[in-house]
Parts: sequence; structure tokens; C-alpha cells
Amino acid sequence: MNRVSVQTADLKLENLTKRFGSVTAVNNVCLQIPHARLVTLLGPSGCGKTTILRMIAGLEAPTSGAIYLGGENITSLPPNERKITMVFQSYALFPHMNVYENIAFGLRVMRWSEDRIKDAVSEALQMVGLKGLERRSAHELSGGQQQRVAVARALVLKPRVLLFDEPLSNLDAKLRKRMRGEIRNLQRDLEITTVYVTHDQSEALAISDQVVVMENAVVSQQGPPQELYSRPANPFVADFIGEANIVDVKVLDLNGNRAVIELGSVRFSVPFLKPPLPGKRAKFMIRPEDIRIGPATEAALRGVVKFAMYQGATNDYSIDTEVGELGVVDHSPDRILHERGTEVALFFRQERGLLIG
Ligand SMILES: Nc1ncnc2c1ncn2[C@@H]1O[C@H](COP(=O)(O)OP(=O)(O)OP(=O)(O)O)[C@@H](O)[C@H]1O
Ligand SMILES: [Mg+2]
Repeated sequence: MNRVSVQTADLKLENLTKRFGSVTAVNNVCLQIPHARLVTLLGPSGCGKTTILRMIAGLEAPTSGAIYLGGENITSLPPNERKITMVFQSYALFPHMNVYENIAFGLRVMRWSEDRIKDAVSEALQMVGLKGLERRSAHELSGGQQQRVAVARALVLKPRVLLFDEPLSNLDAKLRKRMRGEIRNLQRDLEITTVYVTHDQSEALAISDQVVVMENAVVSQQGPPQELYSRPANPFVADFIGEANIVDVKVLDLNGNRAVIELGSVRFSVPFLKPPLPGKRAKFMIRPEDIRIGPATEAALRGVVKFAMYQGATNDYSIDTEVGELGVVDHSPDRILHERGTEVALFFRQERGLLIG
């Protein structure tokens, strides 16, 4: 795809805090958003995601802290001088206007000449691969094309950073999945620095270079998707990203970089984040797909099937055990469905578990 004069930059948030009266919406957040990367802010409702975006865009002034764009302190720069644009939830296209007019709208507001507008719109259309559709009405476009128009409308302003606030949350699951791929491809092709807000963890894992998990106005963990999934820093992140079983266990011993734990009547040797103290209790995390289910035998954790759910690609279970209810996802090629009430044995892929606290 064409890379036409988008001059994007890295973004840095330094000890950013925002209070609304007695509510602290964002609390001392530090973030590095590297040039040409897509960073997702992920977290439950009210954790401060939109407030961070609004501060980056200049729509909200921080209570304290600073924002740097390409090394320049832009904290007190008005929004129209930041060269940062935002794409909203519903794209907010004007349905009665054609593609050209939708993209030109912001430039007309700024009283650009018709010649300049024509060139800019043409360039933006080229970037999103919609050349030739100028005269099409917005309501005659597919969902994916509408999204491209919304992005073109942001790109036409030559932003140095693109912000997305839950752009797909109004769409059905299938379309959402396709469109997140489109956004990611476009972002990669144009190499545009992007901050993307969502509360959908699978969306965050699928499209991000880095995911920032937020909880109650603070950053809980930041890292590449694979790292957050396999080495969550705390139970909140473990539970928020994907499905997680978190079990209270007893630590028996330390053995190099493994801890020996007792889980009910079974012993496992597992990796840890921080060396635990033998004799103490700890939290052990294991993903449902890292537990194998089989017929009851002596040498495994035993349980009884409480829910058995056929899912096509997997069989999903909830199993009652002596350490509590455990989620299990069976994706083995020769799987059979163990019906409710069946006594089963659970085998843990020990090296894939983690002591997280
Ligand atoms: N203008 C405002 N005045 C007062 N409180 C506000 C204002 N804007 C946000 N807040 C509060 O700040 C906190 C963070 O809000 P924010 O909109 O950033 O959350 P969010 O993570 O985007 O949530 P959601 O996923 O629901 O969009 C919330 O407690 C919210 O009620
Ligand atoms: Mg929000």
C-alpha cells in the first residue's frame, strides 16, 4: 500500500493524572507509545481509558503530568495544533453525503481552498484503498468501507498520532473480527502511531504491538500480547486477559526456577514470577487449555463434570474438584465429550502454569 506523507511520531505520557472533583480518573500513568506501533488501552468500564485519549487529543487538560509528541512537550497545546485525531465508536459518517464530502468535511470547516481539499482527499483515499468510490454515498458502503472512510477522514488531517475509542463496539461479533484486522493492516501499512481503546480482551490481543491493562485509573501491566497472556503480573491481569483458573495452593519447596506446590492431593513443579516462601500459601494460575481431561486415574487431580459444553472446535468444561471449580478446554483431535456427572482426571501442563502471587 502507498505510504503517502504521514509523518507520525512517538508519544510519551509522563506521570499523567486527571481528577474530576473527588474522582481520580487517571492516576500517575506513565506510558511510552513507540513510533509506528499500535498500543491498546484495555480495562473495565470506568478505569480511565477515554480520559487518557482525551488528554492526548487535548480535549481534557491533565491535573498534573506531561505529554510529549516526538520529544516536544504538547501538554498545553490546543487540540487543533497537536496533529492528533480521534476515530469514534460509530464512525459518525454523514449518511447523506458521499465519500468525498465526508472526508472533505473537516477541511471545509478549516476553510481550505477547493484545490487543496481535492488533493488531500485524493491522497487520503489512496491511503485507505478506496480510490474510485468518491461519489458513493456513505450508506451504500459495506461496514469495512465505512470504517476506511472514517479513517481517511482522520488521515486527511495528516495526524502524527491516530486515536481510536472503541471503534467497533457497535458491530456484531463477526464484522468486528474482520474490521479489527482491517484497522491493524492499515495501521501497519501506513506505519502510523496509534492508541486504541477497547474493553474487549480478544480484540486487544489480536491487533496490538503492546497492550496496557488498566485497573482503577492505574496501569496494571504493559507488554506484548503473548507476554500478558503467558506471564500475567497479577491475578487481575490473568483473569482479564483470556480465561484463567486461579487456585490457592501450598508451596512445599523451591527447586531452581520451579516451585513445588501442593494442589489438593497432587504435587506439581511450576514456574513463578517471584520466588515464593516454602510453607506459605500462594496463587497458582493455569489456563483452561493447559489442563488435559481424561478418565479417572490415581495419579491426577480428580473431579466431576459439572457443565459439559460442546463448542464445535473445542469441548469446554467446568469441573468440580477438591480445590474448587476449574475451567477446562479440550481441543485435542481425538476428544470425546464427558457428560455431566462423569468422574474424570485432570492433568496439568505444569510448565504452562504460573505462581502469580
Ligand atoms: N467529565 C467528567 N466529569 C466527572 N467525572 C468523569 C468525567 N469524565 C470521566 N469521569 C469519570 O472518570 C472515570 C474514568 O472515566 P473514563 O470515561 O475515562 O473511563 P473508561 O475507561 O473510558 O470507561 P468505558 O469503558 O465505560 O468507556 C470514571 O469514574 C468516570 O465516571
Ligand atoms: Mg470510554
